[in-house]
Amino acid sequence: MAVVPHIVVLAAGEGSRLRAPWPKVLAPIWGRPSLGWVVEAALGLAPERLVVVGGDHLPAIQAALSGSDPALGQAALSFVRQEQPRGTGHALLSAAEALAGADGPLLILYGDCPLTTLGLLERLSAAHAESGADLTVLTARLPDPSGYGRIVRDEAGDLRDIVEERDADAATRAVDEVNTGVWIVSLPGALEDLATVGSDNAQGEVYLTDLVAAALAKGRHVDTLECEDPAEVLGFNDHAELAVVREVLRWRILERHLAAGVEIVDPASTYIDATVSIEAGARVLPCTAIEGDTSIGAGCEVGPFSHLRTGTVLKPGSEVGNFTETKKTTLGEGSKAKHLTYLGDATIGSGTNIGAGTITANYDGRDKHATVIGDRAFIGSGTVLVAPVTVEDGATTGAGAVVTRSSVVRAGETWVGVPARPLRKPEDKS
Ligand code: UD1
Ligand code: CA
Repeated sequence: MAVVPHIVVLAAGEGSRLRAPWPKVLAPIWGRPSLGWVVEAALGLAPERLVVVGGDHLPAIQAALSGSDPALGQAALSFVRQEQPRGTGHALLSAAEALAGADGPLLILYGDCPLTTLGLLERLSAAHAESGADLTVLTARLPDPSGYGRIVRDEAGDLRDIVEERDADAATRAVDEVNTGVWIVSLPGALEDLATVGSDNAQGEVYLTDLVAAALAKGRHVDTLECEDPAEVLGFNDHAELAVVREVLRWRILERHLAAGVEIVDPASTYIDATVSIEAGARVLPCTAIEGDTSIGAGCEVGPFSHLRTGTVLKPGSEVGNFTETKKTTLGEGSKAKHLTYLGDATIGSGTNIGAGTITANYDGRDKHATVIGDRAFIGSGTVLVAPVTVEDGATTGAGAVVTRSSVVRAGETWVGVPARPLRKPEDKS
């Protein structure tokens, strides 16, 4: 049996403080929603079931978690709807049916706390098992605890209660130990205790945090584990806090690539989505953003000032440089697009040079069209390729050529001018 067989992630809150177009738990963080980071860490525990509680945005949540992210792909998640956002305790009660018959430890996570690592969850689960507690709360000491629920201890240092900031008096607000929102409770007892919790508080909500006092009243054993590194437990309620969370995760992604043998010359100005794969031996130069489902082979060089968007495949030894943007584009082995270029919906063979200022005009105002360029082609500076367009192996376009739509530049031909026309056919060559 899994160490923590059951997991619930609460994600039905409205997050109104962000005033963003997306629900808070879907805040985009390096190609993965906040909730996706939480679910990824949780799945590392190999639970028997993982229930996500969503609200009005449940369809968007389901869509976001069933996308192409390989870290979330195969997981068997179940989804529950909390009809009204009536508090974190109410959210957990909404999952009661999905947890029917469940026995043993239940890990509770919040969808707006994406920094939690698998290692931390494992430590919490070990502490919970070792102490034999019915309920273990992960706490942290924060230099600025404002906004968090405060941990209230008795003289013996035992957990007595958790008090939300809005309900706290000055002395309680001065406490710097906070509730991280990461808990392990025992089923089915915790759901029975939670059913006795009311909503007599500043927000008129059923607080999960009141489960502590309810469990103590039933004579249950509650315990805490303090997390030493606040960077593992920070949540976000506004854009400033989201920026802090993003920065922590940005570095985690960079550190993973650095450890795997990717050269990142200036981590401070490099932005890589969680979903990007980069082979050892690739170099990433400063001021570069690499997004979405993108893969970069060994020996590739990216940047400075490159923007690789989703669907980019850089085959080994290929290079993109200054002010080059790619999207849904494959660049073959050893091919180069080093300066001032846009490559969208393009497939490019090996050993091809894309001259400075080349643009694939892939969008006609209604639809996107493909550009296909073969091996060892030479695209002259300032070429505009009006897609759909094909440039075959070994073909050349002259500087400033505008290759109009549906053109096929045959193997070995050279096309020049506006609109571009063949300069000479291969058989003309002496
Ligand atoms: C909560 C805790 C607080 C803790 C902090 C840690 C409570 C009452 N307070 O406060 O002690 O220090 O998190 O970050 O639990 N949600 C629902 N349904 C609801 C309300 C919330 O699913 O009706 C979800 C939200 O989507 C979010 C999570 O629960 O993912 C936490 O809710 P939020 O409103 O952000 O709680 P905080 O005020 O941050
Ligand atoms: Ca929160």
